[in-house]
Amino acid sequence: MNDFTAISRLFEPLVLPNGQIIPNRIAKAAMEENMADQRHLPGAELLHLYDAWARGGTGLLLTGNVMVAADAVTGPGGVILDSQQPLGPFRKWAEAGKSAGGRIWMQINHPGRQVFAANNPEAIAPSAISMEMGGFSKMFATPRAMGETDIARVIEQFAATSKLAESAGFDGVQIHAAHGYLLSQFLSPITNRRTDQWGGPLENRARILFEIVKAIRALVSPGFALGVKLNSADFQKGGFEPEDALGVVRLLNDLPVDLVEISGGSYESPAMHGAPQKASTRAREAYFIDFARDIQSVATMPIMVTGGIRRRAVAIEALEAEDGRAGVEMIGIAQALAFAPDLPNRWRQEEFAVTLPEIKLKKQGLASLARMGVTKFQLRRMGRGKRPKSEVSPLWALICQQLLTARRNRQYQAWRGARKA
Ligand SMILES: Cc1cc2nc3c(=O)[nH]c(=O)nc-3n(C[C@H](O)[C@H](O)[C@H](O)COP(=O)(O)O)c2cc1C
Repeated sequence: MNDFTAISRLFEPLVLPNGQIIPNRIAKAAMEENMADQRHLPGAELLHLYDAWARGGTGLLLTGNVMVAADAVTGPGGVILDSQQPLGPFRKWAEAGKSAGGRIWMQINHPGRQVFAANNPEAIAPSAISMEMGGFSKMFATPRAMGETDIARVIEQFAATSKLAESAGFDGVQIHAAHGYLLSQFLSPITNRRTDQWGGPLENRARILFEIVKAIRALVSPGFALGVKLNSADFQKGGFEPEDALGVVRLLNDLPVDLVEISGGSYESPAMHGAPQKASTRAREAYFIDFARDIQSVATMPIMVTGGIRRRAVAIEALEAEDGRAGVEMIGIAQALAFAPDLPNRWRQEEFAVTLPEIKLKKQGLASLARMGVTKFQLRRMGRGKRPKSEVSPLWALICQQLLTARRNRQYQAWRGARKA
């Protein structure tokens, strides 16, 4: 394949199983912005940010995770969409995301046990197993095992939020079933020790995800797209393995799912932010591409791979077949688009590599927080209508993020208190 054909492939439209057309193969992967207004609604800052991304030429914008339940949040200042929230602000958000002809899907999530005790002291999870993060463990709530009523409520919450997203003008939703949040807790044998129909063999551990897919489809129109973000593995001994990911996708083949995004890891094992140094160069650049190719080979829906893509050549390679295995159909980019929101437009013209700030902190948990901090620093700049800054001190970004987190946590408590009253 010559260079021109290979580059064109990146900018070819993708027709999804439900007929929805994504104008090119580049998606902005979900990044939790923590930039909602004080009522946990999308406000002016998020509109600026999504407008910048839309103008940058991305074919599909996946929002940062939006909470389906007001009493379970992944972090401070996040967007919450349930029946008590007004739809007007969401309509504007969808419009901003579609302003340049691309698509916008809302990523929807429930954190399960992966919540900070400061925000949600009463956490739910498939089994009553606490987070294991060494010195950081105490920051997380101890969960209680979910009963049938809790499970039914969560399925209903995902479906209700999806219907509201459709009413607000979003083109689809992506169910977050990766990164150690509730649905990924159900999928992993480490966190799911249930012996009922929701635990044990893979079909049972994945049942809640399948029930959510069916419940959403029953409420939304056929043209509304439905995606799933799935771990290739959680990279923990005895956890969710690559064979499990293949098994889940084989089962999803029988359901009306339009796109599966492959990632990996969790807070306990943050593989989504990079392969080990000793991995091959290729694995260090597009961490999950080998898994994603294996999954594309068994999947009937298009597969998208996310993690580590900063160069056009790497994005193009991921789309190409290799050694008899199909390439993926879409590539997902998170951090590089926080530093260069117009990356797709630049890639139409020339190769351009995004360099992220080096994080030298040795403690994995702290390094992960600093990485998120420098990225969110850029998102906030774009929210104020500014360009991202090429030089950011990870330590400075970490301190800013922690101060902001403390303030937003207090606001969340006040908002929840007022809502209950
Ligand atoms: C600041 C930040 C926030 C993130 N928030 C989310 C999120 O809300 N949902 C999600 O699925 N992934 C989230 N991720 C993970 C990204 O979607 C992506 O899987 C990961 O960053 C690897 O891709 P990249 O190397 O292109 O950044 C987040 C990543 C960062 C840096």
